[in-house]
Amino acid sequence: MRVLITGGCGFIGSNFIRFFVKKYPRHEILNIDKLTYAGNLENLSGLEKNRNYGFVKADITNATQMRKVFKRFRPDAVINFAAESHVDRSITSPDAFLKTNFLGVGVLLNCALHYGVTRFVQISTDEVYGSIARGKFREDSVLNPSSPYSASKAAADGLVMAYYRTYGLPVVITRSSNNYGPYQFPEKFIPLVIFNAMNGKKIPVYGDGLQVRDWIYVEDNCRAIDLVVRKGKLGEIYNVGGQHERANIEIIKQILKTLGKPLALIEHVKDRPGHDRRYALSISKIKRQLGWQPCVSFQSGFEKTMRWYRKNGEWLKNTQTGAYRSFYRKYYSTLGLTET
Ligand code: NAD
Ligand code: DAU
Repeated sequence: MRVLITGGCGFIGSNFIRFFVKKYPRHEILNIDKLTYAGNLENLSGLEKNRNYGFVKADITNATQMRKVFKRFRPDAVINFAAESHVDRSITSPDAFLKTNFLGVGVLLNCALHYGVTRFVQISTDEVYGSIARGKFREDSVLNPSSPYSASKAAADGLVMAYYRTYGLPVVITRSSNNYGPYQFPEKFIPLVIFNAMNGKKIPVYGDGLQVRDWIYVEDNCRAIDLVVRKGKLGEIYNVGGQHERANIEIIKQILKTLGKPLALIEHVKDRPGHDRRYALSISKIKRQLGWQPCVSFQSGFEKTMRWYRKNGEWLKNTQTGAYRSFYRKYYSTLGLTET
């Protein structure tokens, strides 16, 4: 099987590639990534020499590049992780979000259709549902996104489903809750709190810090995506929730305690505009249809995560200094594509 993975140098994509390459040594895997600030080839270090894995620097919004990639690689399956993913950035500069998260998906769908892909998996998010005060969102809940990021992801979900209904493209969508674990860029909440705490810097808490997220250890999400790739019903959407709801402030306190740092580092700052108060997903569909449920408890995932960031101080430092950017020059190929 030939699998095209987009955005594989980011947080979830790189964890997924590590998991997938190991589990399926006979699959041929091509990772394409634009290497934005969030794309870090260091996340995949050690895989360069794997015979069933390749990397090409390319942009999913560039139709010429994508056609070349599909024509040469001829993927059976496509798993689209590529996105602008940080809500705060989408508030200050929405354009790149609309371009990559919506138009880029359109480019991939056109190529998938033209080159006869037999499975297109779109990695979406629970944020498309918006906030929920009580209860949990199901896959058929109304979409009510709050940020330009989540709106661009909701629009992409609509487009993916339209290609299924109109052209019969074999698509499946996953919507997961907040992932945490190794290789997450430290602009996102958990690695940012760890980084700041380790360096004795203030920890910005948006508003009252009582917003709730449903945390999933990234490896649990990788197992869910793998199942959806293999067994997900075409034209269906699967929620992938961690079932570990925590208020932001509780997480900060847990991190400070683990690192032996004072609570005085906490600093309440202005709230994020349009900030969703609570996310919660029902996972009964994926449990019933595919037999998936999270198996890493928050305590155990949290401990693994803390160990990883403490051990990989160099990786964290490189994301701050920009040193990770030089890593790619040694390893990337362009498949004859024009550089962007
Ligand atoms: P990330 O920001 O860490 O990684 C995104 C990757 O996409 C980067 O490697 C980046 O270089 C690449 N990319 C961006 N624009 C591109 C383009 N135009 N062409 C090719 N590559 C491009 O994001 P992540 O946290 O790993 O999220 C991956 C996917 O999962 C996203 O689609 C996101 O919406 C979704 N998601 C994330 C979470 C989470 O908690 N992180 C939860 C649910 C869903
Ligand atoms: O729910 C899935 C989504 O989770 C993904 O689709 C997004 O790609 C991912 O970025 C994430 O979005 P959030 O907005 O929930 O994650 P973030 O890490 O930005 O923030 C988590 C919570 O912490 C949120 O309530 C805002 C708060 N926060 C965040 C930062 C960066 C703070 O209080 N202070 C901070 O400095």
